[in-house]
Amino acid sequence: MKAAFIRETGAPDKIQYGDLPDPSAGPGQVVVKVGAVSVNPIDTYIRNGANYWPLPEPYIVGADFAGTVVAVGAGVSELREGDRVWGSNQGLMGRQGCFAELIAVDAQWIYPTPTDVSDEEAAASALVGITAHLGLVHHARLTVGETIFVRGGVGGVGSMVVQMAKAMGAKVIATAGGSEKADLCRRLGADHVIDYRNENIAEKIAQYSPGGVNVFWETLRDPDFDLAVSCMCENARMVLMAGRTARPEFPVGPFYVKGCSLHGFAMFKASPEVQRGCAQDINHWLSSARVKPLVDRVMPLSQAAEAHRLQEAHTVAKESQLKGKLVLKPNL
Ligand SMILES: NC(=O)c1ccc[n+]([C@@H]2O[C@H](COP(=O)([O-])OP(=O)(O)OC[C@H]3O[C@@H](n4cnc5c(N)ncnc54)[C@H](OP(=O)(O)O)[C@@H]3O)[C@@H](O)[C@H]2O)c1
Repeated sequence: MKAAFIRETGAPDKIQYGDLPDPSAGPGQVVVKVGAVSVNPIDTYIRNGANYWPLPEPYIVGADFAGTVVAVGAGVSELREGDRVWGSNQGLMGRQGCFAELIAVDAQWIYPTPTDVSDEEAAASALVGITAHLGLVHHARLTVGETIFVRGGVGGVGSMVVQMAKAMGAKVIATAGGSEKADLCRRLGADHVIDYRNENIAEKIAQYSPGGVNVFWETLRDPDFDLAVSCMCENARMVLMAGRTARPEFPVGPFYVKGCSLHGFAMFKASPEVQRGCAQDINHWLSSARVKPLVDRVMPLSQAAEAHRLQEAHTVAKESQLKGKLVLKPNL
């Protein structure tokens, strides 16, 4: 089978596209014929040598996939050949990745793909959708009628947060860079969009939500706590999920006096059972068109190195080139 893999960590050009042996389904696993995969920033950190955990050798890159079950291993009763499925969590915590024509995946990480949802859409919704769900439902506990601010409203995670927060009955304020992305963010359902390149975020939040927001979701890798705390109301929650090396200043007094709380998490540490609950809601929202993933473009899997270069430039170098997810397909 063809796969996108590395034999050593480093720049995007370390990714080779070539032949590796077909995987077989071990106990508790299924083999999936991959229809589509999508890129996440963490794929690029791992490829670049982040060294969070030991990598298989060779290491197939990628976490998110969708496709069709073609073989079922011993002990798997809930899945059959021909089932359309999606999932995330591959290539993480020492597991092999999924940017390949065929992948062997533990059944605990597999969810059914609704009939009216394409492989491209399912793959594009996977890690970012689970992250948004975990943050909104399990950590921030967003409730109907609350106001949430999302910094990065057309990003991979942010675009999911905007749509899910609307589906949960919240008022949404989000940022986007430039008028075109601002329009896109409104089409996702944001009630108010702040063009962070031309408008003052604190002033605009004060205008749209006098008294502050109930939830402040930071997607940037350099969180701004002074901004966040000044824009939060009493008992507000801040969600923090990016920026491992960030050491920003923190306004202690204003934070605790308002009774605010800070919720950090990494999606890949949520249990398979918790993530399955997220996937059920995601499937429901995808089927009912309450949530639609933002796909920047669909590329051939053979261009995995170029996709990593684009993702890195967008997320790490903040070149702001992408509008949503990069999806790759083995047979394009
Ligand atoms: N903890 C977890 O479980 C978890 C899960 C998923 C992701 N993450 C991390 O979360 C971060 C975001 O992931 P992602 O997939 O959403 O990345 P992404 O698609 O690259 O989104 C980042 C967004 O940041 C926005 N941005 C850049 N500069 C900005 C600025 N100065 N002001 C406001 N917005 C700005 C960009 O908006 P414009 O396009 O409008 O410029 C972009 O859409 C990454 O660091 C990722 O590693 C963590």
